[in-house]
Amino acid sequence: MAAAIGAVAIPNPLGKLILAEAKYRGYLAYTTDEAVTLAYTRCTTCHPADKMLKYCSRCGPPFIVVTHAMKKYTELMIQKGGQFKPYSDAEAVAIAQAWNGLVGNWEPDWGSKDVHKLLQGDQALIRLAETPVTERPIESALKNKQAPGSHKEDRKTTP
Ligand code: HEC
Repeated sequence: MAAAIGAVAIPNPLGKLILAEAKYRGYLAYTTDEAVTLAYTRCTTCHPADKMLKYCSRCGPPFIVVTHAMKKYTELMIQKGGQFKPYSDAEAVAIAQAWNGLVGNWEPDWGSKDVHKLLQGDQALIRLAETPVTERPIESALKNKQAPGSHKEDRKTTP
């Protein structure tokens, strides 16, 4: 932590790189803007953003589960020799909140037991699933926003 704070004084672009790495590793929190940028950049290496923008509650499980599945799929592709950067826990937690905030969160429709099971032991995302939306900083900051091209679904989230 001390090292990460010290890094702020290092001139760019090295300082920027170190800060990005500290955030990737979860030592420093992603801001809401950074989470949105991450969501759009990190999730569009295999398919366009439309996949997320057109995704909906009838389409399948909530974004927290999709994020877990895409993280696992990316790891599999890396094992098979694909040139991808694996998602860190901090990124996955930020990205899931960004899509929830921008396109919709229908975790309540699925129930915590189902979501928990679908997260297959992914501790970081399980912790997020157990965190009320009002206490998820990125997602709550985006609650009145909507991604252009999406049809946001606002669910009454259970506290
Ligand atoms: C390594 C490649 C890869 C990355 C990176 C990736 N995806 Fe995917 N994604 C796929 C594939 C493959 C499919 C399924 C095939 C298809 O529908 O085209 C898919 C499908 C989807 C779908 C549609 C699922 C459905 O049931 O219709 C969504 C939503 C989605 N991805 C979201 C994401 C999100 C969010 C991220 C970032 C966390 C992400 N993807 C990153 C490969 C990837």
